[in-house]
Amino acid sequence: MKDIISIRDTSKKEIEKILINSESMERLMKSGSDKLKGKILATLFFEPSTRTKLSFESAMFHLGGNCVDFSKEKSSLIKGESFSDTIKIVDSYCDVLVIRNPVEGSARLAAEIAKKPVINAGDGANQHPTQTLLDLYTIKKSKGKIRDLNIALLGDLKYGRTTHSLAYALSMFGAKLTFISPDELKMPRRVTDEIKEKFNAEIQTKNELNKNLNYDIIYVTRIQKERFPDPQEYERVKGTYKINLDVLGKDTLVMHPLPRVDEISREVDNTKHALYFKQASYGIPVRMAILDLLVNSVTK
Ligand code: CP
Repeated sequence: MKDIISIRDTSKKEIEKILINSESMERLMKSGSDKLKGKILATLFFEPSTRTKLSFESAMFHLGGNCVDFSKEKSSLIKGESFSDTIKIVDSYCDVLVIRNPVEGSARLAAEIAKKPVINAGDGANQHPTQTLLDLYTIKKSKGKIRDLNIALLGDLKYGRTTHSLAYALSMFGAKLTFISPDELKMPRRVTDEIKEKFNAEIQTKNELNKNLNYDIIYVTRIQKERFPDPQEYERVKGTYKINLDVLGKDTLVMHPLPRVDEISREVDNTKHALYFKQASYGIPVRMAILDLLVNSVTK
């Protein structure tokens, strides 16, 4: 494992190893560690982020390492420097690169240019593999297993990159999936076809968003306004679903990669159903495990 670009490049064994190591990292967060002392993480975020960027930085500090941050607006990209030259230079200043960019395939391109490991922190509507690893960790911690759980992915399945990565990984681990979305925001065929073919996944699809959400877990997503080519299309679908206590099954847990806008009612926040804040907190141990694996064991 040299880079983490797509969950599709990652084997079940590699994922299981990261999940086991994340558990140890939770312990290291309390005791402190110098596993990555002297190592430098470079963050290159061409799109906004709260959780992914800060949890990677926090993970690096917990492991005794340091971080440097690339800011598009304050960089020489503004003077006309190319993406490719930028990656080459940052690569020579650090031991691992984390990149988020609106262009699908940009993280893979960066990995081809860089000698150091590259981690995809989200490339357009394509993939967000480290979010998926922390989502799997959250599910295992909460339910003790992934296989045979009834899990619904709900909301913007067309543009939501977290759901593309997660649908693949959940199928790999044998969860039973239901995709619930407005007709305009269905899961792309390329995702469903692949998981049916590779994992024999049986998938239910629904367009009734606001009732009978009696699943082990529902994974809610924000409508990704910034990805709509036509603002009128966004206006047509915005606000079409809102998860509140009336629609949830007795033992249903609610996950969300966050940020949320209005798709989960705040009345859910302080109930046994809400798992989304805990989920975000697991970003640190899981990203510690990822950094440790890549920085300490990789020669590209
Ligand atoms: N879940 C997630 O990717 O959040 P951020 O956009 O805040 O990083």
